Parts: sequence; structure tokens; C-alpha cells
Amino acid sequence: MIALGCDHAGLELKNAIKLHLDERNIEYKDYGTYTPDSADYAVYAEKTAKAVTSGECELGLLFCGTGVGISIAANKVKGIRACCCSDKFSAEMTRLHNNANILCLGGRVVTVEKAIELVDVFLDTEFSGEERHMRRIAQVTDLEDRF
Ligand code: RB5
Repeated sequence: MIALGCDHAGLELKNAIKLHLDERNIEYKDYGTYTPDSADYAVYAEKTAKAVTSGECELGLLFCGTGVGISIAANKVKGIRACCCSDKFSAEMTRLHNNANILCLGGRVVTVEKAIELVDVFLDTEFSGEERHMRRIAQVTDLEDRF
């Protein structure tokens, strides 16, 4: 199960990705926003991030104008490792090395075709589980606990 969320600037891209997930028979829950009315990205980052940290959803996809604001907000939620990517290599590496659990995309940055490519590689790549990456992620979690 994949958690989806966006603000108004990410709505169109989120809707396009929903069609793609339908085609791939990938289940998702959409935590809003649902209309083009101006919306605050932190609200939808929180709803989507909580769905991931609670275990209700395995991974999340967030969309705003740049992907940046919504990633900053999602990363404030304990246990979230959200990455904003616009290239395929980073979208793959962030699963392999960082065990990222949310991918953030900019509706004003990437095309639908590029977004589909990034979403596919993100969803289809597993964390490597290598010791050095586990150690580094543990250090990041430690930062989260201390600050
Ligand atoms: C909304 O205009 C825009 O600022 C927002 O979607 C996002 O790009 C912020 O990072």
C-alpha cells in the first residue's frame, strides 16, 4: 500500500501518478489535497508521513510545486526519510542506500513521463541492507532522537 499526498501545485502530477499506479495494479491511499484550491503542503506531508510511520502504508509519494517544501515538512516526522528527486539515479540510490520511505516530486519541475520513471524505480528498488548503510541510517535516526 502506497500513501499519496500533495498540495495544489502537486495535484495534477499526483493524479497522473494515480493513473499509473492503477495501470500497475498498485494499491494506494490518497491523503489529499483533492482540489486545486490553494493548500498548505505541511498538512498533507503530515497525513501522508503518519500513514507510513504507522505501518498503514509501506512507502509514500508526495507532490508539491518543487517537491522541496513537502519533503522538508515530511522529514520533521520521526521515522521519515523523505527525498526530493528529479533524476533516476538519485531515486534509485535513495532506496538502496538511504532506505528512503517517501519520494517527493515537483509538479512544476518534472514532466509526467519523468515522474513515472522516478516513481517506478523508487517503488521497485529495495534497501540494500548493507552494514555501512544501516550504520549511517542509525546515525541519522540518532540525530532525530537528540535534536
Ligand atoms: C506553492 O506555490 C509552492 O510554494 C509549493 O507547492 C512548494 O513548491 C513549496 O516548496
